[in-house]
Amino acid sequence: MEFKESKRDAMYRSMKYWGKKPHNIWSDLIKQNTKKNDIVMDPFAGSGVAFFESIALHRKPVVNDINPLTHFIVDVFSSSYNEKEINKLLKYISINVQDNALYKNYMKTKCSNCGHLTDIYNYRYENNIVAYAYKCENCKKTLIDDNQKDIQVINYPLIGIPEFNLSKLHSITNSSIDKFGGDDFKYLWTPLNSQLLKSIFEIILTFEEPYRKLFVFAFIQTSHLTSKMCAIRGEKSNRILSSSWGRPAFMALSKYMSQNPLIQLNRALYGNSGIVKAISAKNQRNISYNFSSNKEDFNKKKEALVQNIDSSKFSYDRVDFIITDPPYGDIIKYGELSLIWNLWLVKAYPSYKINLDNEIIIDKNKNRYYYEEKMNKVFTNCERSLKDNGKMIFTYNSQNNNDWSSIKNVIKSTNFEISNFYLQNNLRSSESNVKGTTPTSKSDYYIELSKEKNLFTDYNFEILDELINK
Ligand SMILES: C[S@@+](CC[C@H](N)C(=O)[O-])C[C@H]1O[C@@H](n2cnc3c(N)ncnc32)[C@H](O)[C@@H]1O
Ligand SMILES: [Zn+2]
Repeated sequence: MEFKESKRDAMYRSMKYWGKKPHNIWSDLIKQNTKKNDIVMDPFAGSGVAFFESIALHRKPVVNDINPLTHFIVDVFSSSYNEKEINKLLKYISINVQDNALYKNYMKTKCSNCGHLTDIYNYRYENNIVAYAYKCENCKKTLIDDNQKDIQVINYPLIGIPEFNLSKLHSITNSSIDKFGGDDFKYLWTPLNSQLLKSIFEIILTFEEPYRKLFVFAFIQTSHLTSKMCAIRGEKSNRILSSSWGRPAFMALSKYMSQNPLIQLNRALYGNSGIVKAISAKNQRNISYNFSSNKEDFNKKKEALVQNIDSSKFSYDRVDFIITDPPYGDIIKYGELSLIWNLWLVKAYPSYKINLDNEIIIDKNKNRYYYEEKMNKVFTNCERSLKDNGKMIFTYNSQNNNDWSSIKNVIKSTNFEISNFYLQNNLRSSESNVKGTTPTSKSDYYIELSKEKNLFTDYNFEILDELINK
């Protein structure tokens, strides 16, 4: 069985996350394995593919993730927004921030070609600032100026940026902490950007719902892109204004750019991967829903459930189909890396909780035994939740044979049979390649489990053994 991955829909571009699964393939799998009004469960829901595709197919999603981002994106997409109002609010932010003395002094420059006063797009650092780039609003030229602007003198604000000790994390080295400038979250940004981000954030917090959450969403999507973790792309590559943060760690770079937060906020709203495009793509597909955040409410309304708990405590009764993408060993530290968004999110919405302690992962404190134990609990809950004739499909990939061995142990500890096992090619690299030094396989395994006896189980366990002994 091989499906073809289609282009990523705009609605799945607005939130940065690792290992987003191809929505059309998940949609096909849901369609094949369920009928209208059936319950579809995903205990590791991530950016919400199973949730939104179930809604599109008139199924009832029951999903969970320990990362509050899942609940948050479902919440943001559940409201309707007026574009004029979004525009007005963005203007309000822009006017206020541009009025800020720091912005006037350090984020504006005279175009060296035509003299027009224009916004600086990014500062370029090699230990110190070496240059800044801008796209002139008048003559439309993209230019790099190495007329040094000394903004090193600006001090970090003491309040406003969420506090967090970076040294608590596994995904950062001591030398990176030193290079960033100190053991606190705020050092992930330059002093100028941290001041500007703080003032944008404070304005957003005064907005009324649902625009407040929409802007918080756009804001957190700018937070990594305005940090010091954005690599400079080759200056000849004419991608002077472009950068990304795709690294699976908090890493201090020797050459980086610090991008203008106001411009990035604008892009997070109106850009090609912006939330406004995402919402109109969602509306075009008629994806609209009310959702519940707890089982009692869902039992009454029976529309959609999204929770933000530890999946080893997550279950539901009489589920028709499970589709999920569990963590692959130590590959991506979802919880830690998401702090760059979630520390802001929790500041805006304190009812969200960050729970790194119960995340299923392998790191310095959590060994393989922990990983297997927890995965075992989730898979056992899945088995219990599923109807007798129901199926569970999960994706997995790892270049570490021990991960495959863990998966085998986890399946063996349940009464599940393996009814199917196949490799699916992806257009984009999956999480297993983000870390690997040899980005070889652009594919994921799809493993189908069922509660009923299956002729192929022994054969499929042999495939698993081959992956373990590779
Ligand atoms: C491979 S990712 C899923 C990504 C998803 N396929 C997508 O398209 O975005 C695994 C997810 O498991 C979640 N997770 C890890 N431990 C968990 C736990 N104990 N309970 C619930 N979710 C957990 C992580 O937060 C992460 O979102
Ligand atoms: Zn110009």
